[in-house]
Amino acid sequence: MSLIAHQPLKQDPAQAPAQAPAPPDFLPLNGTDYVEFYVGNARQAAHFYRSAFGFKLAAYSGPETGVRERASYVLQQDKIRLVLTTALAPEHPIAEHVRIHGDGVRDVALWVDDAEAAWKATTDRGARSVRAPETLKDENGEARVASIATYGETIHTFVERRNYRGAFLPGFAAVTKDDVVSRPVGLKYIDHMVGNVGWGEMNRWVEFYARVMGFSMFKHFDDNDISTDYSALMSKVMSNGNERVKFPINEPAKGKRKSQIEEYLDFYRGPGIQHIAMATDDIIATVRKLRDQGVEFLRVPNAYYDDLLARVGPIEEPLDPLRELGVLVDRDDEGYMLQIFTRPVEDRPTLFYEIIQRRGSRSFGKGNFKALFEAIEREQDLRGNL
Ligand code: FE2
Repeated sequence: MSLIAHQPLKQDPAQAPAQAPAPPDFLPLNGTDYVEFYVGNARQAAHFYRSAFGFKLAAYSGPETGVRERASYVLQQDKIRLVLTTALAPEHPIAEHVRIHGDGVRDVALWVDDAEAAWKATTDRGARSVRAPETLKDENGEARVASIATYGETIHTFVERRNYRGAFLPGFAAVTKDDVVSRPVGLKYIDHMVGNVGWGEMNRWVEFYARVMGFSMFKHFDDNDISTDYSALMSKVMSNGNERVKFPINEPAKGKRKSQIEEYLDFYRGPGIQHIAMATDDIIATVRKLRDQGVEFLRVPNAYYDDLLARVGPIEEPLDPLRELGVLVDRDDEGYMLQIFTRPVEDRPTLFYEIIQRRGSRSFGKGNFKALFEAIEREQDLRGNL
């Protein structure tokens, strides 16, 4: 699975606490603020995320709010905020982004108390500035934003909103009428967001998050861990100090056939966000609703469930609905977790979603990767890309 499996860094537990350096705190993060996509048709994409994934339209900006060159729809479900933005003219850079990448994630925005300090701390450490600190104002107060570049054309915007009371950011109008399209499914927050980078680039970006953003390695695994007979990948997970922001980073590895990461890089035309994991506290109810609303999930063979309880031990959930829905389970020394992956949500085989429920485990489903990898390869094969 692409994505996915990330195994605890091997450490001698007796030594780890004494030797671990104090985590750098030059970039305090409150969590993910929003994820912005550049898309070809934001109005229709918003309909999909509302009707299929259960988001509610919360705010809008576009010609009706005085913005001439683009339109943006802000969608919310509990703590998860997605922004879908499209260009209104072909010469706009957003249109060029969509031409090259297809619909995809442009901005993984991070919530901070001081956007200028975050921008300064990261650019002082080598980050490339995309947007210098700027104050945005409207009748609901003011917000500060600043952005830096990460892999590919992806950026991180630092958002400071302590003096802002509006629905999203200045310039956006709140949408207060009932959203008759939205059918919430119980998604709560973003658990992690995975980036795919090019051949041999993983360590460069791991080092970027460590040096520029003060992240540390959370878990890691390599192609001995994540490979099947055919395709392979390597992955390391970077986390900020309070673990509210976790970014696994994948690179392709050599296998007998084309790595699923390479397929992504070919179709996205470069590095970018591969999957977004969204957490629920009732995965059976959430996945059932998503399925009934048209979200398509990867399936592993039914045999996966025959010896599941022998592999992971007792779990609170009944086995039958897990089998029916295709939910996967994995256990580590802290507890267990349940997860499932959608098929790509674009025509290009690029971005997809993970639905995750944690019951103690803080890892990423290492025990599932082989079954998932093989499910992904079946789909790659159907696309002619294996
Ligand atoms: Fe994941």
